[in-house]
Amino acid sequence: MDESHAVGGITDPRGQRRAVVLGGTGFVGRRIVRLLSEAGWEVVVPSRFAARHKDMGLWPSVVLVDMKSVAQSDLATHREAPGLAELLDGADLLVNLVGILNERGNDGQGFKRVHIKLTKAALRAAADAGVPRYLHMSALGADEENGASHYQRTKGKAENWVHRFGRKHDIAVTSFRPSVIFGPGDSFLNRFAGLAKLMPGIFPLACAGARFSPVYVGDVARRYVEAINDPATFGESYDLCGPHDYSLGELVSYAASTSGHPRWVIGLPGWLARLQARVMEWLPGKPFSRDNLASLQRPNTCEPDCQREPTRLEDIAPSYLAPDACLARW
Ligand SMILES: NC(=O)c1ccc[n+]([C@@H]2O[C@H](COP(=O)([O-])OP(=O)(O)OC[C@H]3O[C@@H](n4cnc5c(N)ncnc54)[C@H](OP(=O)(O)O)[C@@H]3O)[C@@H](O)[C@H]2O)c1
Repeated sequence: MDESHAVGGITDPRGQRRAVVLGGTGFVGRRIVRLLSEAGWEVVVPSRFAARHKDMGLWPSVVLVDMKSVAQSDLATHREAPGLAELLDGADLLVNLVGILNERGNDGQGFKRVHIKLTKAALRAAADAGVPRYLHMSALGADEENGASHYQRTKGKAENWVHRFGRKHDIAVTSFRPSVIFGPGDSFLNRFAGLAKLMPGIFPLACAGARFSPVYVGDVARRYVEAINDPATFGESYDLCGPHDYSLGELVSYAASTSGHPRWVIGLPGWLARLQARVMEWLPGKPFSRDNLASLQRPNTCEPDCQREPTRLEDIAPSYLAPDACLARW
């Protein structure tokens, strides 16, 4: 590889460096794409639903690519990920944020396709194209062997694989493992605020005692961009947590009251939580599932000695949850 193109190189005679961001249209991806674009990168963002994200095509030096034409509707179902090779040709950085919280079936195959197969296809294509730097999105609790859910095991397997592959193919890999992420447009606090509105005074909740360290999406995006040129992060994996830990019950109660619909949160016993998960699997969009319930069995918090991200939930959430909020979306 030409030295002048190296990650961390001071000069780049080609001018703009190019990043390909998979999952760049999502809640986290949009922040990372925006920061990269502001930092002067050309950012290529493939999407299966480019028409839904037309606004991003107007961001400076962001190229939104409609993957429908090359990948039908689902990148993960294509063994050779057609189109990726062309997209990655000449790229300096690949960021992979693609992930799902729920699959269509219940046997783990959907998680495998999206978290493992797609990741392998993308990183192999990056290696073929000589891309020197790769940032990977995992999740706190991801664990190939001992994960409690398909989500956690497939995330763990993918994360282990990208580090092994990076070492073998001389790609500088960094992975991030956030707890639940909050910010305008999140699907966590916003979902509970929306549900609270529909509940008649009480809010029955599965795993109300489950622990989280919510981390701000802006902090997550900053960590990605700061890592790009920092050799100390090469080959490393980082847990990302916000400054405080909360129980799920506390977070739901907070989302409900901040959005103007205070509710009394009642923890469900295990058997009722399992029943609720089964029922909700049949609702449109599968808002909750047995796999989600399994993930909740383990604390989603960082070790006490872990460096915490600075932004407090209470300083941001009202700006998009409050009834008069103007930042409902981002
Ligand atoms: N949000 C959280 O609280 C949280 C916490 C820990 C870890 N994470 C991880 O962070 C990542 C991003 O999360 P997010 O909240 O930003 O998710 P999101 O808003 O749902 O965005 C998901 C992105 O992945 C892409 N995608 C989904 N399925 C795909 C498939 N089969 N083929 C190709 N692309 C696909 C989507 O692209 P198109 O639809 O445009 O094609 C979209 O850009 C995920 O890996 C997630 O597991 C999130």
